[in-house]
Amino acid sequence: MRLIAREVIDDIVARSDIEQIIGSYVTLKRAGSNLKGLCPFHSEKTPSFVVYPNNQSFFCFGCNAGGGVISFIQQAENLDFVGAVEFLAARAGVSIPQDGKAERPGEMSRKRVYDMNLAAAKFFRECLFDPALGGDGLRYLTETRRLSMATVKHFGLGFAPNTFGLLYNHMRKLGYTDEELIQGFLCGRSQKTGKPYDYYRNRIIFPIIDTSGNIIAFGGRVMDDSKPKYLNTSDTPGFKKSRNLFALNFARNHCAENIILCEGYMDVIALHAAGFENAVATLGTAITSEQARMLARYTKKVFLSYDSDEAGQKAANRAMLMLGEVDVEVRVIRLPDAKDPDEYIRKHGADKFRRVLEGSQSGFQYKLDGILSKYDIGDPEQRIRAGNDCCALIVTYYSAVEREVYTSMAAKQLSLPLDVLKNQVQVLMKKRMRDKSSEERRHAQSEIRGVGDRVNPDVIKDVRAASAEEIILGLMLVFPEYRTAADQEAYGLVPDDFFTAFGRRVFEAILELHRSPDGFSAPMMEQLFSLEEVGRIQQMEQKRRALAENGQSVFRAAVETLKSAGARRAAGADGDAVSGIERLLRDKKKK
Ligand code: UTP
Ligand code: MN
Repeated sequence: MRLIAREVIDDIVARSDIEQIIGSYVTLKRAGSNLKGLCPFHSEKTPSFVVYPNNQSFFCFGCNAGGGVISFIQQAENLDFVGAVEFLAARAGVSIPQDGKAERPGEMSRKRVYDMNLAAAKFFRECLFDPALGGDGLRYLTETRRLSMATVKHFGLGFAPNTFGLLYNHMRKLGYTDEELIQGFLCGRSQKTGKPYDYYRNRIIFPIIDTSGNIIAFGGRVMDDSKPKYLNTSDTPGFKKSRNLFALNFARNHCAENIILCEGYMDVIALHAAGFENAVATLGTAITSEQARMLARYTKKVFLSYDSDEAGQKAANRAMLMLGEVDVEVRVIRLPDAKDPDEYIRKHGADKFRRVLEGSQSGFQYKLDGILSKYDIGDPEQRIRAGNDCCALIVTYYSAVEREVYTSMAAKQLSLPLDVLKNQVQVLMKKRMRDKSSEERRHAQSEIRGVGDRVNPDVIKDVRAASAEEIILGLMLVFPEYRTAADQEAYGLVPDDFFTAFGRRVFEAILELHRSPDGFSAPMMEQLFSLEEVGRIQQMEQKRRALAENGQSVFRAAVETLKSAGARRAAGADGDAVSGIERLLRDKKKK
């Protein structure tokens, strides 16, 4: 792997203010000289995500994600290091010199993918309006599916003709290579001849457009009952299914009040055509936590309008859970005599659908109905069981207000005394807290023992020595004087004193940068280590940052701990000692 040049990284980091950049993803509140917010990388209710403008870093005390602005973008945009640097460069309006860039042979840039998709979308649209090629497609859309011409154009729908090479030839003329067409899922490669062929054939084409207006992918639907109903672009450099929503590019301008989330492209199109321009859909997958967080960024309330079949209802339950975690109010829509919103609107019209929206149920009522329908409430025995189920459901809500409201709803609908249910909820809550704190304790303990420590699996062999390593490294990361000290072997510290492979790699990387002409650089560390490792490095730093006063004695004591642990190992007291050769091999494997 070639690295991006130091000057390039320094320049881009200098132009990328971490507070501003993270602030565009996370709502940050000032807390002293730092900023706090809800972590974008795990679900949480109380903020444990901190941004440190002083040294341009962030750290989450909940999930241990941490690093600098490049690591943040890597995680937020799901990019590799080079991709994140490019992303920040584009944002800052600078270009990365070609010779300063790591070569990723054969991988297309996002821009190239978007350009290629745009050219393909134009081709598909022309085919749709060419009677000889797309007559069937246009008839399907306007007659079978009753879409207006305006709607067809609004969504940029197209048609892939029933041939193996029309798109391919067209795109080749525009300068796209076989490899690019295959990488972007516009073409497949024939097993027999090795030649590319058009991936979408005889299908209606739905372009998928992100909120910046880029065409990031396509869906292609057959016009009859053949299988598969839809073909879709698989994940490409420009496109991750889990990170996008169909029609969000339109809905984002109509979502201040609420968003309607449905399952199908056709549902969304029918809803928009009927005036509900706040409808979006997941891309043929169950809703992900990323999509839930995206929705939470755009709106406070989501109407779930999933298919009425069992699969749809299961998916709705999952969506309720995901959306509840990001504090979005969820209302569930039931469509009595239609399989999905598209069919409902075609049968009953927009006004009726609006009334359904108004009469929608809270997520809780929806689940309560589920419980009520399972039991015969007239029967005392069954009423008790229904009551227990309700209490178990109620304690899954975090807010005391919600629990209060739902308890009285349940009491009323089950005709059970309110205080009986309240008591039961209390008992379950206490049990839940106990379970939770013992779970947290277990988690903390396993962490201390180093069990399941993926970043530094050697910790478990000598927890004390490992924590001494982290103290030394933390101090070296925060304070330049300890880098100088280590460089001059001031405390007699040498690389061999580090017994974990990870600790040693970090030590050597810090020293190498320290000795380079431009000196130590946190962004260069980010380039040298994986995201998980960067998080751990940030954690070490975090723990030492407060230690300005008697850092020297702490540093010295930690070196002594390491040295005596090393001596014990040398004396053979520790059978688990990592030999020099083993360490060498391990380091090799990592590369
Ligand atoms: P539906 O089968 O409900 O499709 O699948 P639909 O969009 O309502 O289409 P019509 O009304 O039958 O024409 C819901 C979504 O699941 C994905 C698509 O995103 C679709 O919109 N899907 C479905 C696939 O990706 N592949 C399939 O084979 C089927
Ligand atoms: Mn449908």
